Amino acid sequence: MLHFLITAPRIPQRAWLWRYQGTGALLKHPGLTDQCRASNGRFVRTGPKKSRPLCTSLGGFWFPGAQARRRCLFVAIQASPLAPRWPQELPALVPFPGVGSTPSYHTRSHPAEVECHVVDLRSDTVTRPSPKMRQAMAQAKVGDDDYGEDPTVNELQRVVAELLGMEEALFVPTATMANLIAVMCHCRRRGAQVLLGKEAHIHIFEHGGIAQVAGVHSETLQDLPDGTLDLEELEHKIQQAHRSQYHPRPELICLENTHCSAGGRVLPLQYLQKVHQLAQKYGLQIHIDGARVLNAAVALGVPPSQIAQHCDSISLCLSKGVGAPAGALLAGAREFITEAWRVRKLLGGGMRQAGVLAAAALVGLNHVEETLKRDHDNARRFAQGASAIASPLCSINLAAVETNILMVRTLLPWLTPSKLCELMEAVSAEEVAATGQATSVRLFPWGKHCLRAVWHCDVSPRDTQLSGNKLRFVLDNCKQQ
Ligand SMILES: Cc1ncc(COP(=O)(O)O)c(C=O)c1O
Repeated sequence: MLHFLITAPRIPQRAWLWRYQGTGALLKHPGLTDQCRASNGRFVRTGPKKSRPLCTSLGGFWFPGAQARRRCLFVAIQASPLAPRWPQELPALVPFPGVGSTPSYHTRSHPAEVECHVVDLRSDTVTRPSPKMRQAMAQAKVGDDDYGEDPTVNELQRVVAELLGMEEALFVPTATMANLIAVMCHCRRRGAQVLLGKEAHIHIFEHGGIAQVAGVHSETLQDLPDGTLDLEELEHKIQQAHRSQYHPRPELICLENTHCSAGGRVLPLQYLQKVHQLAQKYGLQIHIDGARVLNAAVALGVPPSQIAQHCDSISLCLSKGVGAPAGALLAGAREFITEAWRVRKLLGGGMRQAGVLAAAALVGLNHVEETLKRDHDNARRFAQGASAIASPLCSINLAAVETNILMVRTLLPWLTPSKLCELMEAVSAEEVAATGQATSVRLFPWGKHCLRAVWHCDVSPRDTQLSGNKLRFVLDNCKQQ
């Protein structure tokens, strides 16, 4: 029996209804208590209707429109005895040719038969492996990486260690795990103090793993707008702890480069050097959360090793700018990586024939510099266009757009980040009439007054142009209303 779990958090008030069809399945909506019988993968447009609650209908399933379709998340599949109920002639998702480096998707979702083009700027993690990556994955030489026998993983580790100028690197499932392993290896004492920014990804978005699992104490400092920490404050905190028998013992400083919450800001090399000197003065280690360190290197125009020389360990995420489907690396000295291997095992991060993933990463790394340059150019071009609109409704700090991330600040209380995201994502007949395009731009509401757009390898210059047009249309519309 096929079993789908579909989440559709927002059901629009008025929406085109789509019949979701194919071989039967059980479908459960989190907002509903009942399970609806549905099918496996086809949406068929059935015409405009007022929205109805998700319901079963003649054994089929009514599903509101493209909006909800994009929000679907399918998990947990079992077999289904139910037979196909409708002919399968209409493809649910059709690659939209010529846009983006991998197909983005459109569907006929409008009465005027308008193609809705989706540009997903929520994160650089939404990329899909390119055809070359998929080919490399299919052909990858693999072995048991727990025995050190996966040649493709070994090659990736060698390539990344060299790229970062470190003795060795270790392939791990995620950058979150890479950061946690680093903290566990550097902080050998329970209750050791880690100094890091309040906005650091490690502190906010990694479930407090360094407290929960590593058993260390986080001493946070306010991140400055450029993603750096105030060096005087940093030194003061270290000194304070050193002088006192009441404070936890500081052992590690964690930096983030590029700094995600600051909007992809690049830590200056001089700053890294100063933190390094400070750490050496007081006998602390430095770990850089370098999930996007390659973006930083490209922005600075230096090899990544010039950044990594100022730390004892560094993580690098493969499922962001590199465009690989999964994986990260932790790099450092040989002894450190030997210990990291043991901790990875402890955390369940050994992945056996992981060469299939490493192969995709090697393809991405092959041309990562040009990919990231293009991402940065696109982000900057969008930012320039958006600034030129000079809207009273939102603003972008152009000077802060250094890499592939930009933050849009909303300026009026009624236009919340979520509202602006919603408007950018919605496609309407008015948009088609006004601009001749139907572009759904997905953004991420980041904070109370801020939303985030992130460029990646699946966003082309044309996508960027279309997104800029869409922003202009939305802001004009808001102003008129
Ligand atoms: C700065 C930073 N560090 C670490 C991570 C964690 O990466 P992963 O999703 O691979 O665990 C992210 C993910 O977005 C990030 O932005």
